Formats: sequence, C-alpha cells, structure tokens
Amino acid sequence: MVFDINGKVALITGGASGVGLEYAKALLRNGLKAVTLADVNGDLGNKALIEISQQFGSKRAIFSKTDVTKIDQLEDSFKKTVETFGNIDIVFNNAGILNDAIWEKQISINVNGVIHGMILALETYLPTYHQGPEAVIVNISSIAGVIGTAHVPIYSATKHAVIGITRSWGQPAFYKKFNVRVVAVCPGVTDTPLISEMNGRSLGDIYEENGKEFVGELTVQTPEVLAEEVMNIVKYGPNGSVWIVEGGEPAYQYVFPDRNQMKYNQISDYIQNK
Ligand SMILES: NC(=O)c1ccc[n+]([C@@H]2O[C@H](COP(=O)([O-])OP(=O)(O)OC[C@H]3O[C@@H](n4cnc5c(N)ncnc54)[C@H](O)[C@@H]3O)[C@@H](O)[C@H]2O)c1
Repeated sequence: MVFDINGKVALITGGASGVGLEYAKALLRNGLKAVTLADVNGDLGNKALIEISQQFGSKRAIFSKTDVTKIDQLEDSFKKTVETFGNIDIVFNNAGILNDAIWEKQISINVNGVIHGMILALETYLPTYHQGPEAVIVNISSIAGVIGTAHVPIYSATKHAVIGITRSWGQPAFYKKFNVRVVAVCPGVTDTPLISEMNGRSLGDIYEENGKEFVGELTVQTPEVLAEEVMNIVKYGPNGSVWIVEGGEPAYQYVFPDRNQMKYNQISDYIQNK
C-alpha cells in the first residue's frame, strides 16, 4: 500500500530550520495540505513561515514554539495542529542536538523528546485525527545510531535509542491497534548547522581528534536531497523499518540480524588455552 501525502497534515519537531524545514518543504511539494513547525527557536520559526508562504502560498504552515523535552508544550503543538487544520497524519520526531559537552540536555532532547512525540502521536493524536487508512511517524536517528563513534559516544547512544524506540513501537501489535506506521531514518552527514558548528561539542580533546578522522571520511549530502529521499520512506517504508540515507545516495534498509543466527559466535572461541 502506498501512503498518499496529498491533502495530509504534518507536525515536525525541530522543523524551523535545518533538515526539519526541508522535510516540511518536501512534504508540501508532494501535496501536503499543511504543516506545523514545532520548534524551540522563535526567530527561526518566523523566518521559516515566511519562506514557506513565499514558496507554497499562505495558510500552509503554522509555527508552534515547543521544547520537546516538555511533554505539555509538545501536546499544545498537537492541539494547535488539530484546531487549525482539522487533522494530523504525519509526525516527524526530528528535533535533536549534537553536543556531548551538555550530554544530559542532549539525552533529554534526543531521547525524551522522541518518546514524548511517540506517546502523543501513537496513542492519541494520530489514531483520533488521521485521514485515510493509516498515519505515519518518522523518527530521525543517524548513521551514528547504527555504529559506534569515538567522537560523540553519547550522541551515538541517543541515536541508538531512537532505533530501539522505532523497532519497539513498530511492532505489529501497535499497528493492529492504532493503524500508525513507525519508521526510522538514519541520515549520513548533512550540511546543516549541526555539522558546521560541531567543533568543541564533545567531551574533550581526544574526542575532537577522533571526530576529525570520522567526519573527514564521509561524503556530505544536502538537506534537500535527504528530504526528497525521505518522502519515499514516508510513502513506502514498512512498519518498524530503519533506513540509511547517506552521501546523497538512494535510501537503503538497515536489516537487523536475528540473534539466533549468531549462536556460532561463541565466547569459547575467545577463551585462551581451552
Ligand atoms: N545534519 C546531520 O548531518 C545529521 C545527520 C544525522 C542525523 N541528524 C539528525 O537530524 C535532526 C535535525 O538535525 P539538523 O541537522 O537539521 O540540526 P539543526 O541544528 O540544523 O536543526 C535542529 C532544529 O531543532 C531545533 N531544536 C533544538 N532543540 C530543540 C528542542 N528542545 N525542542 C524543539 N526543537 C529543538 C532547533 O531550534 C533547530 O531548528 C537531528 O535529530 C539530528 O540529530 C542530522
């Protein structure tokens, strides 16, 4: 089944700038009726609204000042969306920071924020107010969510958590009850302030050195190309699936092996002098 974006309504956390704003524009290009940009930064939000009205006409977007770490603020954004546009069909849990130097705040935004979005979207707002046969939640992880990084281990841990959230709430039991598909996207390095301002946002010098090596090896993609590719995942990605979009290349599915297939990898192989 293909999910038709045409005429639908979306809410995007962290949607006032960076990739979040590009997801909004790509959805609007695909026929979205309207979008709520739920973001903590009011200046960026107002700028984004002007850009959207210039490109897509008026009444296609609202800005809702929201800190995703506060579930009541995020719930207000869901309420405003339904009051303004009548429905809600697509939620992007996108807001995130990369900053291991303030790691407790980072965990709160990157993990608690996504959990807040999941609980509100999956259990209440999408089942109640979606149009058509199903709704969609897109959780934004990172390639750092499927590999360890010696640069920002705590950021990497938060993005692994986003995968766990997606695979758990993407279980068939929830789809059966709510008709909401849950997918995760793991972008590679994408040209936004999160990357251009990342120097010094680690636990210290050794981590900074590791970061130069890691990021230097990767091809930077544009937010526009990433967002356009993510539209295919919104339309076709199966419930619970995880997708890598890296280097401006087509999205590919990250498939987790069945743990029973790994029983050959015994600890005894590592025990000396057995
Ligand atoms: N840029 C990349 O290379 C890259 C790669 C992989 C994953 N990601 C992920 O993509 C998402 C977006 O990243 P980006 O590159 O667009 O970053 P960005 O810094 O350009 O934009 C992040 C947006 O989130 C908002 N935000 C920050 N804290 C918030 C909060 N508490 N509540 C609500 N909004 C908040 C900011 O105001 C900003 O508008 C993040 O989750 C990030 O981890 C980015």
